Amino acid sequence: MDQNELKKAVGIKSVDFIKPQMTVGLGTGSTVYYMVEELGRRVQAGLKIQCVTTSTRTWDQAEKLGIPLKKLNDVDHIDLTIDGADEIDKNFQGIKGGGGAHTYEKTVALNSQRNLWIVDQSKMVTTLGQFPLPLEVNPFGCQQLFQRLEKEGLKPAFRIDKQGNNLLTDMKNYIIDLHLGQIKHPHLLADWLDHQTGIIEHGLFLDLVNTVVVGCDDGPKIIE
Ligand code: 5RP
Repeated sequence: MDQNELKKAVGIKSVDFIKPQMTVGLGTGSTVYYMVEELGRRVQAGLKIQCVTTSTRTWDQAEKLGIPLKKLNDVDHIDLTIDGADEIDKNFQGIKGGGGAHTYEKTVALNSQRNLWIVDQSKMVTTLGQFPLPLEVNPFGCQQLFQRLEKEGLKPAFRIDKQGNNLLTDMKNYIIDLHLGQIKHPHLLADWLDHQTGIIEHGLFLDLVNTVVVGCDDGPKIIE
């Protein structure tokens, strides 16, 4: 199976975790796209749920499918959030933000009773860091922040769009990707990044995930 088929298979499988009356967080990305398509089919078949989203992309897709949507501030809890990821290690620590949506994704994840990630098998790694670690940063003072990151040896690069401009997030911030190769101590790095003024949020998602559905050639595997 190619990567897209694996993504589609886990996206569809993950919808089995959604039960009637749940409030569900919908992540962002190409794997989540398939999950939302399947959820739309089940809602049209009568499944009663409500959802919050982690990006305008997912909001627009879900809205078109008739999935009932709420703003995060208007729900009092989230039962389950289903999201993709860029890397996951064996302890379910991960990197997200390949789609630049990790600030909203982390906000929704932190407020969810249960977090489920859906990934194809290529995302499972021994050590995090081969995938560049995204930072959402405030444009004000981002050059100074960039220099600070360089001085720390964190190999930063601004994420650029097709027109050659700084890519803008849903919150109109920039993304800096850290090309680290490997992250030996994710908690130490997360703690340092949490304390740098100008970084809105980083893409290290630590101690957040309960279940992973991995797309393998012989079918989706549930790991808990
Ligand atoms: C977006 C994300 C995505 O969940 C992550 O990049 C995985 O995307 P995909 O399913 O397209 O591979 O974190 O900010």
